Amino acid sequence: MTSPNKSSADEDTHAGAATFYGPRFQNNPEEVYRELRREHGTVAPVLLEGGVPAWCALGYREVHHVTSNPDLFGRDSRRWNGWNSVPHDWSLRPYVEPQPSVVFTEGEDHRKRGGALAEALADVDEFDLRSQVEQICDGLIDGFAGRGEADLIAEYTHQIPLLALLKIYGLPDEEAPTLVRDVALSAEEGDEAVRAHERVVARMLALAGEKRENPGRDVPSFLQAHPVGFTDEEIAADLFITMGAGYLTTSDWMGNTIRLMLTDERFAVTLAGGRRSVGQALNEVLWEDTPTQNFVGRWATQDTRLGGKRIRKGDLVVLGLAAANTDPQVRPDSYAGAAGNQAHLSFSHGEHGCPFPAQEIARIITTTGIEVLLDRLPDVALAVEPEDLVWRPSVWMRGLTALPVTFTWY
Ligand code: HEM
Repeated sequence: MTSPNKSSADEDTHAGAATFYGPRFQNNPEEVYRELRREHGTVAPVLLEGGVPAWCALGYREVHHVTSNPDLFGRDSRRWNGWNSVPHDWSLRPYVEPQPSVVFTEGEDHRKRGGALAEALADVDEFDLRSQVEQICDGLIDGFAGRGEADLIAEYTHQIPLLALLKIYGLPDEEAPTLVRDVALSAEEGDEAVRAHERVVARMLALAGEKRENPGRDVPSFLQAHPVGFTDEEIAADLFITMGAGYLTTSDWMGNTIRLMLTDERFAVTLAGGRRSVGQALNEVLWEDTPTQNFVGRWATQDTRLGGKRIRKGDLVVLGLAAANTDPQVRPDSYAGAAGNQAHLSFSHGEHGCPFPAQEIARIITTTGIEVLLDRLPDVALAVEPEDLVWRPSVWMRGLTALPVTFTWY
């Protein structure tokens, strides 16, 4: 496929570029990364959906280099030299179009905003969060336990992280159904998604105002009181982006881990009451089936070289997080050393990487979700053959469309 308009990234360097979309990513992404490494090395010229040219950093060292050098690979997409190649209805627009959120800030501005957000997330009481997540999980299980069967994606893992995030935002429980529906809708495509997005942003803006008047112990109140002095609009944008960054990632982490535990006999033997293995399974998923497979992105601030390729100022570099995690130069034997080793790049790296307190929140939500499930339904088992499970057709996120299970109601 060719792009509608040429940008500097595709003129000569993108001859022979690989298509970076399509069904192969759904079923066997690792095979695609192996081929790309074989043909192009650690940095591949790729065409994103719509024929939009970019580079994909596949090597561990290259992803580490890009994320560690924000002066060379910036986060502000306004410097992209490829805007004229982007189709109007491009599905990646929401992820690259500059927004007034922490994600697109750089330098001192990012240090202030990212630092305050990390402080706000670190202020979340872990004990309270764990007990709130337990209640959420118990409530969801109560809803389907009597049936002896459930789809753990739709009825469990997709619900928990958003409901938990609403708690740390200090939102009343009765608003949860509407917001959960709108946030899920806003991640899809089409007019309804745009309207849902607008409704959630409007609610975040109103919430920022409410917390200025009536503060509580929650993330928006913390940001309102922060000495940096944020506007309501800035707080609303960061609340929205944090929800987006934390919802599907955490849900897929939980879903992919439950799948691993139900399909891999190394975990099956300890499934009933085998608490120690939950942490191991969660870590293994971050190495082998990480939720954020690829991430857009970074934009070169000047002409440079990466993995032997010539990158021009304004070129888009996709972070190939899943490929970096299985880089044969770093992990010659795919399983060796993964247990207990947390040097994967699944949360990315550097100043724009997933804030550490956010990672902890994700860990508490996923661990609690799986532990409650195993406590309540100790004989939970897959209702279909493992090979019949279907992955969502996405280059960016890895998660299942459904996880049908059966169990005995005790
Ligand atoms: C398994 C769960 C999660 C994964 C795999 C994950 C992964 C990531 C990745 C890959 C990035 C992009 C980093 C970059 O640009 O280099 C990111 C950023 C971010 N994540 Fe997470 N995340 C998870 C959960 C969460 C949760 C639960 C929250 C919030 C409570 C959160 C908040 C954020 C924020 C605010 C950013 C933007 C940081 C910035 O640009 O300064 N994430 N995350």
